[in-house]
Amino acid sequence: ETTEDAGSDDAAASGDLITVGFAQVGHESDWRTASTNSVQAAFSEENGYDLQFVDCDNDSATQIEAVRQFIQDDVDYIVIDPIVSTGWDTVLTECEDAGIPVIVIDRTIDDSDKYVSWVGSEFMNEGLAAGTWLKDYAEAKGISDLNILVIEGSNGSSAQIGRTDGFKKIADAEGWTILDSQDGDFTQDGGQQVMESYCKSYEGKFNVVVCQNDNEAFGAMDAMKAAGVSYGVDKDVILISFDACKAGLEYVESGDINADFMCYPLQGEYCADIVQQLESGATVAKQTFMTEPWYVAEDILSSITYTNNAGEEVTEDLVVVT
Ligand code: AHR
Repeated sequence: ETTEDAGSDDAAASGDLITVGFAQVGHESDWRTASTNSVQAAFSEENGYDLQFVDCDNDSATQIEAVRQFIQDDVDYIVIDPIVSTGWDTVLTECEDAGIPVIVIDRTIDDSDKYVSWVGSEFMNEGLAAGTWLKDYAEAKGISDLNILVIEGSNGSSAQIGRTDGFKKIADAEGWTILDSQDGDFTQDGGQQVMESYCKSYEGKFNVVVCQNDNEAFGAMDAMKAAGVSYGVDKDVILISFDACKAGLEYVESGDINADFMCYPLQGEYCADIVQQLESGATVAKQTFMTEPWYVAEDILSSITYTNNAGEEVTEDLVVVT
């Protein structure tokens, strides 16, 4: 599906700045900081934009309100990184009625298609890749009994849903025990709190921890350290994370995180590119997927093969962080 719907006026042609409203999720993680910086750089005044940025602090009502304010302000384009994947059709209809094109980045909107384009990650594939890596890794290491604790991302976000479902698909097929799976809200504090409670409830009973982002992993590491649980390469617990932000990759390099599945945050340029295409009257792709490498601490497996969310069997190389 494509669209030729361009901005609400001829701002660019007249030499004025193009106004863009961006309703960002919040500031919960290193990933989010990188995302904000990327969008702000792409929509800078120097590049011909007037960006209205709203940090929605992980609150869905605030995010809907921000979008309505952008409509009132009659911006040329609205960019949304949706905190949750549902509840969008009414406000997107309002954008459509106002003639303002909406571009969605990062997380998906799953109950409305009233946006012109989406740029982001296939979260389900990240979860499938993590599960497949664990299967192959455990086999290579001769670990037959996997007892897994999951620290999920913010409930109802497409990142949480996709990573949970993808990983669970492999876990179910392999008959692994997922002892518990709780919301750590994609924050370091959240990860630490959930892990502290896991360390008490499941003392001596788990050997895998899956954190759905790096900041949760940092918090989980602190909690495990305090509880005397060792993690990482050849330790008590295999630690898996998502995002592969700079600090996350440093922990992969030191062997504290066994595997980190990238979620590419620098989507601002892609988004600005879509605005430029719309300005020139071109048709734009409805979906643009980011390319995301998988990082590991040990040189044991060179690649993994799995069936992705599109039903294709894919083989992807693993990058050893040295
Ligand atoms: O939507 C992307 C996710 O949200 C990232 O994994 C996480 O770090 C962020 O908060």
